[in-house]
Amino acid sequence: MRVAIGADHAGFRLKEAIREQAAGVELVDFGTHSEDSCDYPDVAGAVATAVAQGEVDRGILVCGTGVGMSMAANKVAGVRAAACSDTYSARLTRAHNDANVLCLGARVVGPGLALDIVQLFLDTAFDGGERHERRIEKIHALEPRAARAGG
Ligand code: RB5
Repeated sequence: MRVAIGADHAGFRLKEAIREQAAGVELVDFGTHSEDSCDYPDVAGAVATAVAQGEVDRGILVCGTGVGMSMAANKVAGVRAAACSDTYSARLTRAHNDANVLCLGARVVGPGLALDIVQLFLDTAFDGGERHERRIEKIHALEPRAARAGG
């Protein structure tokens, strides 16, 4: 499996820890490469685009909370990014949502839990089936929708 990984300055150290522990996957590192301040949407956009274009199978993004990365990554059509801080969500977002990007908060989860979450995200297959596929199609049907004044 080919996996894109990226982080901002807050997630840099956890990204490096994930890189050290990831066995059996080919990681493609989209930076950042130090703890110097940078903007998480830049990294999220690069990783999400690699996933959406099929250059990699999945993506992992790390920032302080995981939230900013997930907001940015989900703007890219075809991406289903999930911010997870527990193993149950990590497993279910693969099984039910077929999440293709995992977002982690380095200021929220410790490295041990984060590595377990990564393992589940990589190891858990999508359950498939009409019910889940229909719902995922409905997620992506929302992508081109433009905001309208007055809802
Ligand atoms: C950076 O301070 C922080 O805002 C960022 O890492 C992330 O948590 C945003 O969602």
